[in-house]
This record gives sequence, structure tokens and C-alpha cells, in this order.
Amino acid sequence: MLKKISIAAVAALSLTAGGAMAAGGESHVHDVDFSFEGPFGTFDQNQLQRGLQVYTEVCSACHGLRYVPLRTLADEGGPHLPEDQVRAYAAQMDIYDAELDEDRPRIPTDHFPSEGAEGAPDLSLMAKARAGFHGPYGSGINQFVKGIGGPEYIVSILTGYTGEEKEEAGTTFYENTAFPGGWIAMSPPLYGEDVEYADGHPTSIHHEAEDVTAFLMWAAEPKMMARKQAGFLGVLFLTVLTVLLYLTNKKIWAPIKGKKFEA
Ligand code: HEC
Repeated sequence: MLKKISIAAVAALSLTAGGAMAAGGESHVHDVDFSFEGPFGTFDQNQLQRGLQVYTEVCSACHGLRYVPLRTLADEGGPHLPEDQVRAYAAQMDIYDAELDEDRPRIPTDHFPSEGAEGAPDLSLMAKARAGFHGPYGSGINQFVKGIGGPEYIVSILTGYTGEEKEEAGTTFYENTAFPGGWIAMSPPLYGEDVEYADGHPTSIHHEAEDVTAFLMWAAEPKMMARKQAGFLGVLFLTVLTVLLYLTNKKIWAPIKGKKFEA
């Protein structure tokens, strides 16, 4: 009887597994080694600055970053731009000021623009809003090992165009191996030499995609490094506390446990 039940269970499991794979098998997301991964990973300041450049020169034409205050570009652990550069960067973009009833240049306490092209989502939280890795079979084990995969998903979208396009109801869709469903309304934003990096870093679609994604990860979680440090301190503290409590426990029970051995 038990054997029959277990055979049935295995059969049912493999059936659902096959189904899940068929459904999730369409989009392809590849793993990327980012500097900010792992318990001690940190943002690479130069990469964030390059990513800001890609965002500014390419993506900002269509995508806003409404939740990101411009002043945070000067943050240590972030792009860490000098204050005067942040002020100059902010001043390039206008914002409507209700008090003045007219447009004025932005100042560092303002946020990035929120307006974007029609249908283009805000990118402030995108790196944490999407998951690149699932399964196997919805178990989440992949995410446990490689992370949720939001950044990997963005890199895969930016590098996943096949070159095919089609028009449906007046909208052009582009075939993309990472986008669920396979057809995205965003035209390929990167071609490989879209920016000229100030630090002479090589430009290719992959470099640009990884740089802008690192920047978007920072935008979505600017305090990641502080969080990891706090976590590490917490673990250290708990380890010391465990040792102390263990020794205290031994000491408190020593007379009683000692007697038992004497008898
Ligand atoms: C010409 C306008 C345009 C540009 C430039 C552009 N995008 Fe997009 N983007 C869009 C549109 C439109 C969508 C919505 C596509 C859809 O839902 O089919 C989109 C969607 C996205 C998505 C979300 C995909 C999802 O899962 O919903 C990401 C991530 C993204 N863009 C990143 C970028 C990055 C990074 C850049 C700069 C390298 C960029 N985009 C440049 C128009 C643009």
C-alpha cells in the first residue's frame, strides 16, 4: 500500500514538474557575477557612475526614476559623486515648481524626473520588482543559491533581442528571449557604442547593460551595503553572546553536574 502511494506521489510530482517547466521555459535569464552579490558584496563606485551615464544618455529618454532623490548620487556606498557635480547634474533637468508657478532647474533635494515615454515603467524599483530565477519547479532553490535575479533579468532583457520585430494593432514588438511572452514593446535601447565612458572603460552592449543594471540595483536598494554590515555585526554579536551564554550555563550547573559524577 505504502509503495503504491509513493509511486503515485512521484508520478504526480513529475507531472506538475513537467508542467511548470513548460510554462517557465520560455524566457531565458543568465546568471551574472555582480560585485554587490554575496554577504560581503559591495557596489562598485566606478560601475555605478558608468551606469548613471548610460541611464542619463539612453534610458532616461523613456524611463523615469521617481523615487530616487538626486542628492543620493553623492552618497558614500553609492556613485559618490562630488557635491558640485550633483548640483550641476540636477540643474540640467527642469521641474515644475508650484510655488513659483513655473519651471526651474532641479536642485539636489529634488528627485529624478518621474515622467517617461508612454508605456515605459518607472525604473526606481525595477531591479527588485522582477525575478530572474524561479524554480526548479517553483521550489525557489535557484533563488536561494543565485539570488532573486532582478539584476540578471534586466541584463538579459537588454541583451536578449533577436532582431525580429512584428507589428500588432499599431504597436511594434521586438522579439526578446528574456521577456515573458517573448515580445517586448521596448525597441532595443543599446547597440554597443551608445556612450563614451569618461574612464575609458570598454563599451559593448554587455558592459553597458551590466553597468546600467548595477546602477538600477543601487537605485532600488541604496542602503544595501549598510544593511549587509548591520547583518554581519548582528551575526558576530550573536556568536559572542552564544559563547558567553554557553560558558555561563556550564558555570551555573557545574556544582550539580559535578556531584552527579562524584556519586
Ligand atoms: C524608446 C524608449 C525606451 C528606451 C530608450 C528605453 N526603454 Fe525600457 N521600456 C520601454 C517601454 C515602452 C517598455 C515597456 C515594454 C513592454 O511592457 O512591453 C520598457 C520596459 C523596460 C523594462 C521592464 C521590462 C518588464 O519586465 O516589464 C526594463 C527593465 C527596461 N525597460 C529597462 C531599460 C533600460 C535599462 C534602458 C536603458 C538602457 C531602457 N529601458 C531604455 C521604452 C524604452
